[in-house]
Amino acid sequence: MIRRWLLRGGILVSLMVLGGAQTLFLASNLNTAEAKESVKKLLNKAFPHSQKCKRCHLRVFEEWEASAQSRSIQTAPFRVSLDRFLASAPKNHQAMCFRCHAPHILEYPEQTSFFIKEVQSRDPQIDGVGCAQCHLIKEVDETVHPPLPTFALGNTVFGSYKNAVDNLAHKSQALELYRTSNYCVSCHEILPAIGQNTSLPDLLGAWKKTSAEKEGKRCQTCHMPEAFGESANGERNRKIANHSFPGRFGKVRAKAAKLDVKTTVNGDQSTVQITIQSLVPHNLPLPHPGWSRIVLDLTILGKNLRKVYGEQRTYERVFADAKGRPTVFDFEAVKVLKDTVLKPEETRVETFTFPTPKDAPSMDVIVTLTYGAIHGPEEFVKAVEAQATLGRKDRAFRPVEIVKFKENIPLR
Ligand code: HEC
Ligand code: HEC
Ligand code: HEC
Ligand code: HEC
Ligand code: HEC
Repeated sequence: MIRRWLLRGGILVSLMVLGGAQTLFLASNLNTAEAKESVKKLLNKAFPHSQKCKRCHLRVFEEWEASAQSRSIQTAPFRVSLDRFLASAPKNHQAMCFRCHAPHILEYPEQTSFFIKEVQSRDPQIDGVGCAQCHLIKEVDETVHPPLPTFALGNTVFGSYKNAVDNLAHKSQALELYRTSNYCVSCHEILPAIGQNTSLPDLLGAWKKTSAEKEGKRCQTCHMPEAFGESANGERNRKIANHSFPGRFGKVRAKAAKLDVKTTVNGDQSTVQITIQSLVPHNLPLPHPGWSRIVLDLTILGKNLRKVYGEQRTYERVFADAKGRPTVFDFEAVKVLKDTVLKPEETRVETFTFPTPKDAPSMDVIVTLTYGAIHGPEEFVKAVEAQATLGRKDRAFRPVEIVKFKENIPLR
């Protein structure tokens, strides 16, 4: 499929070239500061930087700035894994990661080395998933995988207001697409196939068949919750959509899963049965990047709150590379070795058995469900730490708690 989108990008570019001035930049070499500046200008002309929208859309801008999407080409894990990908990627696939992390590359496939250099600079002057990258999407072709967005470059931004107020910066046009899940899945459904990995499963799972989808809940319902507020500076009392894209960070997390815990003490042996009900209408976690995992942890505290037992189970997709070795890099994967992600709206039961703590009047049973920290080969994790401004304190190293349960069980 990847060939198809590259081709499509190629056609779009040549049409634009026929149309005019852009020809100048096509064969740019990036060796001089001047050449870089002109490519940057070219890109920012078609896809204005989000800073340009901030002037009139302060609220939206501030929400977006706090979101993961605003950092899509800026994080240390992205930089380090991009380098690793490029070290072995076939030449004609080097744009692959940008397909979703900075999708305007679809219009400028010949500028791939510029995009790469921007990321490696650690301070990219172009957006990744910015305002224009989303609001110039006119169509999404769902018949290909990943679904392919088509941009309409010009003075019109697309959105969901049927009656947008006129302004001096741009025209507005409402499209039903912006209210549907199809809009989001172009970047959230599946990685493009390269070489042998053509049979890797998609990321979201059977989301179309969930009760949430049948009830009319779209990705936006949960991840761009509606409110009333200011759409543009001074345009109050509008129905607005939150642009901080709450997910792993943010308030929706508490709604991810329910835990039901049953503890039975049977003489020397105790059993804890945990029922996890995923309330999420897609896989949890979404298995990209490949090291994504959720950890279910059981901790038993005995006398004087000393830990007497602990066990963990993980929900993740474990991939194998072409040599059959396990890898956390999905771009090296050719097949799935193990898939324990919680399926859409799945209920899973886990049973733990352990020796009943001796000499303790009671025990504490503590169960947590947590997004795990980044993991992988030591040299990879070290490189991420070295590249992150905050080092080990970077959010990539921080486990994120989803739900926690605690109870005290008397033993005598
Ligand atoms: C142009 C591609 C693109 C589109 C379209 C897109 N996203 Fe994303 N989204 C991304 C990327 C890339 C990231 C990850 C950024 C990062 O962390 O580096 C992301 C991150 C997110 C996150 C945060 C994930 C987390 O771990 O917390 C949520 C939630 C999200 N997107 C929801 C949506 C929704 C809802 C839509 C549709 C309205 C949407 N996205 C459309 C590319 C896209
Ligand atoms: C099909 C679209 C798509 C492609 C192609 C893609 N990503 Fe992502 N990437 C995403 C989305 C969406 C997220 C957010 C996932 C989530 O939180 O569930 C993400 C998240 C990530 C993250 C974790 C967030 C962060 O910034 O630390 C890393 C790292 C990453 N991608 C690296 C890559 C690399 C490297 C490539 C190329 C080999 C790549 N991605 C290709 C869509 C994509
Ligand atoms: C000169 C001020 C100004 C600038 C600059 C500006 N906008 Fe707007 N924009 C507005 C106003 C005013 C509205 C109408 C709001 C309303 O109807 O409630 C609007 C509406 C929108 C809408 C809703 C359209 C719809 O039909 O749903 C989107 C999306 C949007 N702008 C995106 C952008 C983006 C992206 C940029 C930067 C490239 C930008 N705007 C720059 C003033 C501006
Ligand atoms: C990942 C894609 C994505 C990104 C990034 C994004 N938007 Fe949006 N935006 C949407 C979608 C989808 C809607 C419609 C949501 C709905 O109606 O449920 C929307 C709605 C809007 C609206 C009308 C509703 C409101 O909340 O005011 C404005 C204005 C807007 N966006 C401007 C912007 C600006 C400015 C930026 C950058 C700071 C931006 N958007 C970034 C996808 C995006
Ligand atoms: C009924 C509400 C709901 C709907 C609809 C929904 N999600 Fe989620 N989503 C959640 C919850 C809850 C989480 C878990 C948050 C957490 O624990 O981090 C989540 C997590 C995510 C994450 C980040 C977590 C991860 O594991 O990487 C992304 C990205 C995401 N959703 C994208 C989407 C997309 C794309 C759609 C549409 C196909 C969608 N969601 C539809 C509720 C929803």
